[in-house]
Amino acid sequence: MNPKIITLDGPSGVGKGTIAIMIAEYFDYKYLDSGSLYRSLALALFEKNNNFEEVLNNLDHWISDISIEFHYKKGEKARIFVNDKDYTEKIRTEKVAILASKIAVDKRARDMLEKYQRSYIEEPGLVVDGRDMGTKVFLEANIKFFLTATVEKRAERRLNQLKDQGISANLPNLKQELLLRDKADTERLISPLMPAKDAIIIDTSDISASEVFDKIINIIKRNKIYE
Ligand code: C5P
Repeated sequence: MNPKIITLDGPSGVGKGTIAIMIAEYFDYKYLDSGSLYRSLALALFEKNNNFEEVLNNLDHWISDISIEFHYKKGEKARIFVNDKDYTEKIRTEKVAILASKIAVDKRARDMLEKYQRSYIEEPGLVVDGRDMGTKVFLEANIKFFLTATVEKRAERRLNQLKDQGISANLPNLKQELLLRDKADTERLISPLMPAKDAIIIDTSDISASEVFDKIINIIKRNKIYE
């Protein structure tokens, strides 16, 4: 039996992480948050050298001793480690997200993380979320979703997520940061953020996470993906 692959792409704040975990739990599949890999790599590099121009000029050198591990177990919070140190909480700030989008334009960084992402394919299946899961890394996915929402709704959701994690932020700044990150992610030359040609697009602006989840599960069942 081939492991099934379900991809969820989209910009920040559309709810893809929450929904991806709900789907993974439902089918008992593995789950991978590819954004957390970009965030961890960016933060680990920044901690070594905060001059990103220098880092990008000699990435092979700076990246060589960085090893990233993403762990997910059903019913538990996903955790991410860099060289065995727990980075789960500290990668969640918008500052780290911006660093991640700077690293994300680099082919060498993307290639390294792509290899790691593909090593996650496992029976009975994998649910992955990110920006280029359906357009680049898992072209062969059994079903691909692209989630969208208005920037106002996305900023509100990010604000609540950050509050829950004890991180303070303000709505206008957050909205501005999301728009800048969207621009960087959609306009970059390599693996830009866009729906795959065969992706099913779902606007999550006015529906709850459980309604999005129900919609996706119905589509997956209708397409007989999980059998
Ligand atoms: O999803 P998240 O907001 O954690 O991603 C942080 C940044 O990492 C994104 O803004 C994007 O620049 C980069 N990223 C990417 N490709 C992915 C996942 C994330 O380029 N598959």
